[in-house]
Amino acid sequence: MIQEKKSATALLAIDRATSTPLYRQIYARFRAAIEQGVLHPGDRVASARDLASELGVSRGTIETAYNLLMGEGYFSSQGQAGTVVSPSLPAQRSARRERRRADAPTDRQALADARPPPPLQLGIPALDAFPRKLWARLTARRARAATPADMFYGDPSGYAPLRAAIAAYLAVSRGVSCHPSQVFVTGGYRASLALIAHTLLDKGDAVWVEDPGYPPTQEVLRSGGLRAVPVPVDDEGMVVARGVRKAAGARMAVVTPSHQAPLGVSMSLARRLQLLEWASRSKAWIVEDDYDGEYRYAGPPLPALKSLDGNDRVLYAGSFSKVLYPGLALGYVVAPESLCAAFATAAQTGSNGSPQITQAVVADFMRGGYFPRHLKKMRLLYARRRGILVAALLKTFGDEVRIDLKSGGMHLIARFDERTERDTELARRAQLAGLNCQPLSERGSAGFRDEGLLMGFTNVASSAQAQQLAVKLRKALGLR
Ligand SMILES: Cc1ncc(COP(=O)(O)O)c(C=O)c1O
Repeated sequence: MIQEKKSATALLAIDRATSTPLYRQIYARFRAAIEQGVLHPGDRVASARDLASELGVSRGTIETAYNLLMGEGYFSSQGQAGTVVSPSLPAQRSARRERRRADAPTDRQALADARPPPPLQLGIPALDAFPRKLWARLTARRARAATPADMFYGDPSGYAPLRAAIAAYLAVSRGVSCHPSQVFVTGGYRASLALIAHTLLDKGDAVWVEDPGYPPTQEVLRSGGLRAVPVPVDDEGMVVARGVRKAAGARMAVVTPSHQAPLGVSMSLARRLQLLEWASRSKAWIVEDDYDGEYRYAGPPLPALKSLDGNDRVLYAGSFSKVLYPGLALGYVVAPESLCAAFATAAQTGSNGSPQITQAVVADFMRGGYFPRHLKKMRLLYARRRGILVAALLKTFGDEVRIDLKSGGMHLIARFDERTERDTELARRAQLAGLNCQPLSERGSAGFRDEGLLMGFTNVASSAQAQQLAVKLRKALGLR
């Protein structure tokens, strides 16, 4: 189906005014699509009858073009199964492949070739440990039971049972007390932040962001016409006094209090109270990005900043990317009760909502008691995987590496203090070897000085693999 659509799209621009016969134009467009890598060997193409009807030409015209393509080896007939781009099409007929070979390998290419997720990729949960069988069962059950009503537009604010399940989970696990009507389901963190900014701020407003921080935060704010003001982070989290000095009139602050992204520090109680006090005094908002607050390996998870929010200044943003998987593309915002109507209107204006079936499956997963079990399992697994990676790095680099471990999160920071190269160069070398280490310095503003390599440990499945990765990294960094 998808391939058929692709082929048809490639053919839409048929020019009836030129002297080039229609069959020749169709032939040429298929050839171009194959050579540009839009169509691949083995892709099914539309039947002559369907394509003729879609393009408003005679079936004979399409058949002539197809016969020509078959004669030249671009297409082959699979009998009842229809016509496909020849599976045996020589690789050199694809211009894209030729280009790829000619290019010097780039770090992006090396990563793309590593298949997802590349080793040490940040921010991805353990994809090998996801309960796929159970998920498939819950999904199949929902798909089978879907009624015509389930196929209609859903509530853009979110599927009601999921909103209720999220509210129940937050009350118990994150100390956040809210009514389901305060929960707005979104397509993930960026969508949540865009929804908040759109609902509460005006173009040109200043927003404090953490320095260093999570790059998409600034990108989303800037694309909404807002002014992101980097505010330094120390061992206690965002330095509120510096924020006041830099932009006292800011309308909002975006923070990651559970595990600062990327430094991993937890915001101290004193700082939390200071930030809340600033927001109350200035009538400003705080966005609490609690992207992986569930993952803490020393002691229980810290309560959310929102749990201390007596004056309703905090918008809590959660995501299922870390606790389930990022392909779900689901997140949520908890809005203050007084803003529910404004958020509902903004959600209605700005989106069609998230897929109903997906939301229903997540709700079933949460309400069926599987969610806390999954989180507990992942917490233990990540603690183990973190230990495995640390041990391998220490064994391979000895005192050439300094590892910054915080109480939680899904990545560590490795510092190579003796190296004269910048962390950007070290990361580039690692990436060329297919290891997706990220440079810490790139997460900060021009004035940010700290350096190191950020490494995700959640998908390091065994000691042997960790050792292999560490040795590969050592070689990539040019160490003997
Ligand atoms: C700091 C931070 N916030 C939020 C997210 C979650 O984003 P999303 O819901 O878009 O996957 C991530 C994911 O990597 C993150 O690192």
